[in-house]
Amino acid sequence: MGKKIFSGVQPTGNLHLGNYLGAIKNFVELNNDKENDCIFCVVDLHAITVKQNPKELRNNIRETVATFVASGIDPKKSIIFNQSKITAHSEAAWILSCTARTGWLSRMTQFKEKAGKDKEKASVGLYSYPVLMAADILLYDSTHVPVGDDQKQHLELCRDIAQKFNNDYEVENFFKVPEPLIQKEFSRIMSLKDGLKKMSKSELSDLSRINLTDDADQIVNKIKKAKTDPLPMPDHKDELNQRPEAKNLIGIYSSLTDTKLENIINEFSGKNFSEFKEKLSQALVEKILPISKEINKLLSDEKFLDTILLDGYEKANKIASNKIKKIHEIMGF
Ligand code: AMP
Ligand code: TRP
Repeated sequence: MGKKIFSGVQPTGNLHLGNYLGAIKNFVELNNDKENDCIFCVVDLHAITVKQNPKELRNNIRETVATFVASGIDPKKSIIFNQSKITAHSEAAWILSCTARTGWLSRMTQFKEKAGKDKEKASVGLYSYPVLMAADILLYDSTHVPVGDDQKQHLELCRDIAQKFNNDYEVENFFKVPEPLIQKEFSRIMSLKDGLKKMSKSELSDLSRINLTDDADQIVNKIKKAKTDPLPMPDHKDELNQRPEAKNLIGIYSSLTDTKLENIINEFSGKNFSEFKEKLSQALVEKILPISKEINKLLSDEKFLDTILLDGYEKANKIASNKIKKIHEIMGF
């Protein structure tokens, strides 16, 4: 049976290789399977959990849509919309926040990381963020949620919320309990400057990530400057556990070219990193450059991008409004 796929990406600019290999590449494969119904949401309500400039946010929403389409998601086959347009998301988030327990939310590691030392200064939204994410998923009876490894804990919370709601209101199976779809290998792409840190939009140094809008020179330069250790390329897979930067670069190459890790290690063992880096740059340019060019082309046609969002809104709103109506009945509203 076909899957009901739902996933979201924040329109916070600088979509990067981690987003692509950890999530978007998977979205495209799911979109291409005729059996699946896919919804890809630009989660602008999640973006405002940290301060946003409205003008930049508007551009970033369009850029996220452009990235989806440029990467190969077909807006005729999959629903693409932005979260803020469908009020059911905020409403369901409130209702589900009365099901979620503060103890559950307090365990979320992403909040701890993002809030930093001064937790009292973090917005309430940043804290309750995973409840909104649960609302996104549960409104559409989603069965599978493709995400990067960093979202695993939020999905477990979503499952707990769904189960507790179904139990509390004695509505067996009302909210479908979704399965995460996380890449088996290299589900976490690390910074090019520190193999122990996640590649991230918010990292200050642009050299730490390959952006999906980078041109060939930028890609080559970033890989040239990527951190490695002083040893030659590894002879065996087991070495990688002690060599995070080597592991990350080889992982990127493996994921990008769908080549087995062992084959890459065999090909390059004992050689200098510079030789491998050349191959990696080549593979990146081949994959990223066409996407980058297409994003830029699409960005010049705002009307086209807005039509995709409007069309997606109409389709998604029907599903979400229907679910909200049923939620009202269950709650006694
Ligand atoms: P975000 O941009 O935070 O909304 O993330 C969008 C998607 O990209 C989510 O599914 C994340 O799990 C995934 N993602 C973000 N950063 C990385 C990374 N460094 N490695 C793998 N996946 C990532
Ligand atoms: N929290 C996710 C992230 O930062 C984005 C997101 C919001 C999401 N709602 C979602 C992902 C629903 C999957 C399903 O990456």
